[in-house]
Amino acid sequence: MGRAGVLQVLALLLVSRAGADVSGDEAREAAAVRGLLTRLLGPRAAAGFSVSVERALAPAPDADTYCLSGGGGTPVQVTGSSGVAAAAGLHRYLRDFCGCHVAWSGAQLRLPEPLPEVPKKLIEITPNRYRYYLNICTPSYSFVWWGWERWEREIDWMALNGINLVLAPVGQEAIWRRVYLTLGLNQTEIDEYFTGPAFLAWGRMGNLHTWGGPLPSSWDLKQSYLQYQILERMRSFGMKPVLPAFAGHIPKAFTRVFPQANVTKLDNWIDFNCTYSCSYLLAPEDPLFPVVGSLFLRELAKEFGTDHIYSADIFNEMDPPSSNPAYLAATTAAVYEAMVAVDVDAVWLFQGWLFQNHPDFWKPPQMKAVLEAVPRGRFLILDLFAESQPVYSRTNSFYGQPFIWCMLHNFGGNHGLFGVLDAVNRGPSTARLFPNSTIVGTGIVPEGINQNEAAKMGASRKGLFALLVGLMYRVKPLPFAQQQTLVWVTGEIRSHLLQTLLVNDSGLISIPSFSFGI
Ligand SMILES: *[C@@H]1O[C@H](CO)[C@@H](O)[C@H](O)[C@H]1NC(C)=O
Ligand SMILES: *[C@@H]1O[C@H](CO)[C@@H](O)[C@H](O)[C@H]1NC(C)=O
Ligand SMILES: *[C@@H]1O[C@H](CO)[C@@H](O)[C@H](O)[C@H]1NC(C)=O
Ligand SMILES: *[C@@H]1O[C@H](CO)[C@@H](O)[C@H](O)[C@H]1NC(C)=O
Ligand SMILES: *[C@@H]1O[C@H](CO)[C@@H](O)[C@H](O)[C@H]1NC(C)=O
Repeated sequence: MGRAGVLQVLALLLVSRAGADVSGDEAREAAAVRGLLTRLLGPRAAAGFSVSVERALAPAPDADTYCLSGGGGTPVQVTGSSGVAAAAGLHRYLRDFCGCHVAWSGAQLRLPEPLPEVPKKLIEITPNRYRYYLNICTPSYSFVWWGWERWEREIDWMALNGINLVLAPVGQEAIWRRVYLTLGLNQTEIDEYFTGPAFLAWGRMGNLHTWGGPLPSSWDLKQSYLQYQILERMRSFGMKPVLPAFAGHIPKAFTRVFPQANVTKLDNWIDFNCTYSCSYLLAPEDPLFPVVGSLFLRELAKEFGTDHIYSADIFNEMDPPSSNPAYLAATTAAVYEAMVAVDVDAVWLFQGWLFQNHPDFWKPPQMKAVLEAVPRGRFLILDLFAESQPVYSRTNSFYGQPFIWCMLHNFGGNHGLFGVLDAVNRGPSTARLFPNSTIVGTGIVPEGINQNEAAKMGASRKGLFALLVGLMYRVKPLPFAQQQTLVWVTGEIRSHLLQTLLVNDSGLISIPSFSFGI
């Protein structure tokens, strides 16, 4: 199936969501962007902008568009086909017309007066239906101790970068606790199963249990409340939060309650022994599989609502007990069927990391078995490390399943100004030109944030994360000079750090010198 076919399949899902109250949604999303504007610039400067949301601005339902005009003594007009499109337009204006920079670590927001004129109506249409954000690991490396204030700033950053699809894993342990209690496990057993807060990312993927636990008793309530705030704000901008689904991992105590259950004990994960890893996986043909999966999703959707896209990773960095394609297909299908039993519109977001991480196991028959076990268009694959080792190019574009071209770039939140600039610049457009490409978006999936957030190089916007999010509204790569100047603005110390970066023939950055202050 070509890209058009995939988009058609996905468009069906859009139609089922296209409510009658479009103008109500437009007004709500515009109000969310006005709120962002006021938080960012303060009420006085915000009054210099006029923000509106008009669905009709987009030439197609999945082609988010923004339009800029005005300024130079009159209000700057920012119109978007959605809240996130309007916010992306606002960001474009602040960055390219005002020299501002909004980054993870802070912001430079000295506005010229009067606000510069947009000489001629500027319209930008994204080629990316989805602009995706977050790795399963990011919440553990970077967000675990955040309260609402920092989350609010992050969601504003997402909106400004036009992100419309994002993981929303917070608060899921409260739902799991409810499900396990319903199934007959007791509090002690559940407490022994969960990892501590900082390790939940790996607990959620079945890599770890128990390590650093138990969770504090205040955790469930506080995280649920936080998740309510997060989801409400994301949805107000028109973003789709991705909630978790059941991937098959169960606590050991499940076998006490259901001694007949068919479970497989997986191997240990990296250097952890079986006290902390070696997850139990419920067999796909066990009649309890759909029971647990549906119970969880129903409780979750009842609590938090749903946008119909769910995340689940079964074999992240853990080899399956069998490489038999029939086993892999059954395991995959069981996860999907438990989703669809609760939500007929369910789409499964899946990190393609395993294929890249262990190619000796994941040969074409194994990958094909997984990718073809779910109806086309109902899988949404993250090509997680596409800037270095893309998987789409060796799987005929994920055998017809839609995918998102993602830049991972850092492991464990490691710092350092480095990166494959040229691969990031050209990667998405190359993927779009791939024969029968099924690309439906681009994404950034850093394991940790707060690094490489350079704003501007020379006259145009570059630097790694800024580069990729800047590209999300472009069809073609940016033209590159061999040597560029990078201005890095840190919000914490409000000083400028001027660096000269060399971009060599391999498109790699090196740093010959840097000095503080300008
Ligand atoms: C939970 O069940 C285990 C196994 O039967 C038992 O040893 C433990 O005392 C129980 N804990 C509670 C709080 O009931
Ligand atoms: C498992 O690892 C932990 C921590 O590294 C260690 O304390 C414990 O003795 C190990 N258990 C076994 C059974 O090897
Ligand atoms: C248990 O599950 C495995 C893996 O799916 C399957 O091969 C096996 O036949 C099952 N055993 C029973 C007794 O159902
Ligand atoms: C692209 O898809 C068409 C139609 O299914 C098929 O005939 C063609 O071989 C595909 N091209 C490549 C390069 O896979
Ligand atoms: C480009 O720069 C990288 C990073 O500094 C370096 O490792 C690489 O050897 C350079 N390549 C060329 C062709 O100069």
